[in-house]
Amino acid sequence: MRIVECIEKKRDGKQLSTEEIQFIIKGYTEGEIPDYQMSALAMAIYFQGMSTKEVADLTMAMVHSGDTIDLSSIDGVKVDKHSTGGVGDTTTLILAPLVAALDVPVAKMSGRGLGHTGGTIDKLESVPGFHVELDNEQFVKQVNQNKIAVVGQSGNLTPADKKLYALRDVTGTVNSIPLIASSIMSKKIAAGADAIVLDVKTGSGAFMKDLDGARALAQTMVQIGNSVGRQAMAVISDMSQPLGFAIGNALEVKEAIDTLKGQGPKDLEKLCLTLGSQMVYLAGKAASLEEAEEKLKAVMANGRALEKFKVFLQSQGGDSSIADDPSRLPQAQYQIDILAEQSGVISEIVADTMGVAAMHLGAGRITKETVIDLAVGIVLHKKIGDKVKKGDALLTIHANTQELDEVKTLIHESIKIADKAERPTLIYDIIK
Ligand code: URA
Ligand code: CA
Repeated sequence: MRIVECIEKKRDGKQLSTEEIQFIIKGYTEGEIPDYQMSALAMAIYFQGMSTKEVADLTMAMVHSGDTIDLSSIDGVKVDKHSTGGVGDTTTLILAPLVAALDVPVAKMSGRGLGHTGGTIDKLESVPGFHVELDNEQFVKQVNQNKIAVVGQSGNLTPADKKLYALRDVTGTVNSIPLIASSIMSKKIAAGADAIVLDVKTGSGAFMKDLDGARALAQTMVQIGNSVGRQAMAVISDMSQPLGFAIGNALEVKEAIDTLKGQGPKDLEKLCLTLGSQMVYLAGKAASLEEAEEKLKAVMANGRALEKFKVFLQSQGGDSSIADDPSRLPQAQYQIDILAEQSGVISEIVADTMGVAAMHLGAGRITKETVIDLAVGIVLHKKIGDKVKKGDALLTIHANTQELDEVKTLIHESIKIADKAERPTLIYDIIK
């Protein structure tokens, strides 16, 4: 087999065989296929697309390019959730204890990564004492006992994806549905998921800005799951404004606690119930999505979801009293309100810009070396469609500095007030 023939085949719109895709991914991972040929192939895929079979083959070739995690010693159907990424997306912190309260095993491997705020692990580390250094045996034991544990990423998972993603980043080939879908699904499958729930975001703060693109990506990922024996479902959800109110690490932990008590922001609660229902249903703990949602509402109302969160924190060294007294979480030194300069209706809160403002406060990593300030961030008081009067507080900045000119400029760019505006749809579609 010769790589140049594979490139020409894809360039001309023909299908690559399973063997060809395996040959390409193995050769690229091992350094036998150089970046320039892989770039040409990625661009050919970008223009010609891939069939369902090709995307499934590509996904599995990337899964087998490195280590895979074996979760078979954990009882039950291991369901994982993936979000294509948004601003202030606190869903994982809520969903993990919420579905675990219904005995769905949550065996979560999480990362830190770059972004507007930290990853799930950074957020959890704002709980005093909490750690993710579990060995494999402890991890399995805790999931079997408590139905929930979170560990840091270990092992050499999907090295082909790491290499290819970095290459796509500098060759204008990130935005290709087959490449995105196989990248995401390969990581989830390598991490041991039996079933996968996908939250595909659409809107200004999302990777897929338009609804058609988001839907096509979701459909491709669900098809991959079905082709490789992993059940999958997807939700297309709005990211035209930040999710919930809080953007920041400790601030999002507090928001998660409120939501587990049934006192969180309504949009965040609704999205968690929708994603959570899919997880519970795929795990076989409810006969329908409707029944799953009723069960989730019940564990929020009777306190079992919050109790599960406490058990989870305790079992990983965390101070679970923060769940009853969130003021024990790290607090920023200064809290500054930003006031409405005119009366009207909130018509825009550009999620990306608000996320960058939170990052400037220190809530997120600009480079891998950045040390995150867990206390800082932004708490919105208004969302799109809310009425405001001149002088109302639109949001509060939680900061550890008083030099906030840049942050305030970003915030003013992000929020618009108009005469009228509609609330955006939160959930656009469900893909099964
Ligand atoms: N996220 C991923 O993990 N991979 C992509 O290709 C795009 C987004
Ligand atoms: Ca939030």
